[in-house]
Amino acid sequence: MNNDKIIDGNLIANEIKEEIKLEAGRLKEERGIVPGLAFILVGNNPASQIYVKSKGKTCNELGFYSVTEELPEDIDESVLLDLINKFNNDSKIHGILVQLPLPSHIDETKILEAIDYRKDVDGFHPQNIGRLVAGKDCFYPCTPFGIIELLRRSKIETQGKSATIIGRSNIVGKPLANLLLRKEINCTVSVCHSGTSDIRKYTLNSDIIIVAIGKPEFLKADMINEGCVIIDVGINRLPDSTKKSGYRIVGDVDFKNCYEKSFKITPVPGGVGPMTIAMLMKNTLLSAKGEVKF
Ligand code: GUN
Repeated sequence: MNNDKIIDGNLIANEIKEEIKLEAGRLKEERGIVPGLAFILVGNNPASQIYVKSKGKTCNELGFYSVTEELPEDIDESVLLDLINKFNNDSKIHGILVQLPLPSHIDETKILEAIDYRKDVDGFHPQNIGRLVAGKDCFYPCTPFGIIELLRRSKIETQGKSATIIGRSNIVGKPLANLLLRKEINCTVSVCHSGTSDIRKYTLNSDIIIVAIGKPEFLKADMINEGCVIIDVGINRLPDSTKKSGYRIVGDVDFKNCYEKSFKITPVPGGVGPMTIAMLMKNTLLSAKGEVKF
């Protein structure tokens, strides 16, 4: 998209992936290390299958080693734990990703905690979450990490700015709040959620607004201030008979109307989405280089 207001996630993600590819090539040449990522996919969730395939393809493009283990839906938890343990002890593997959601008979917390936190490139292990909150070096969860990179590479000033996050999920809202609080970013952060009595009160006073609640076109133009920056994490399907598929994809932001008032804004699709895979690759590279200092 050739437009100064639009933060082009595809363009920025491609730029990051090019940098990673070059760095991975150098790492192989200089130290004989090929970044390696293991994917574990349980069951037949079609969305999960597509995600894992796409992540594996990106590994190939960047010169990473990858392996995908597909397990049937009714697998015993112990089999999954054994597989994680195998990858924990495999020196060719620098990152382990168990695709979520897991079938309901499997204890997700137990599985995520079984991953060696030094290979936890999703940043979901309590060790990484705790270190993130404490401001220590750790793996950042990929979507919040991608949002920070979008802001940084779009040269958006964050020092001393007020940021409002709408949504308090463990994958986006909570880790993002902690990243925005870091000294090098230095935002003053509000986190709104379903129990917030007047979300507009917060968004109207914000320089940066990040929406991650999964409600189509939730953020309206009358909720924002002229000149704000809007990051839309939502991916929602709305019925649309004019489309061949019968639906169209919209974010959590009323894009058309908010666009007019904003200084910068991410589109959906093509904003935050492409950044998540790019940052997963970045985390795997950092792991292979031993650059996260635990
Ligand atoms: N399912 C949806 N998003 C993610 C993600 O970022 N990581 C994992 N492991 N599973 C997911």
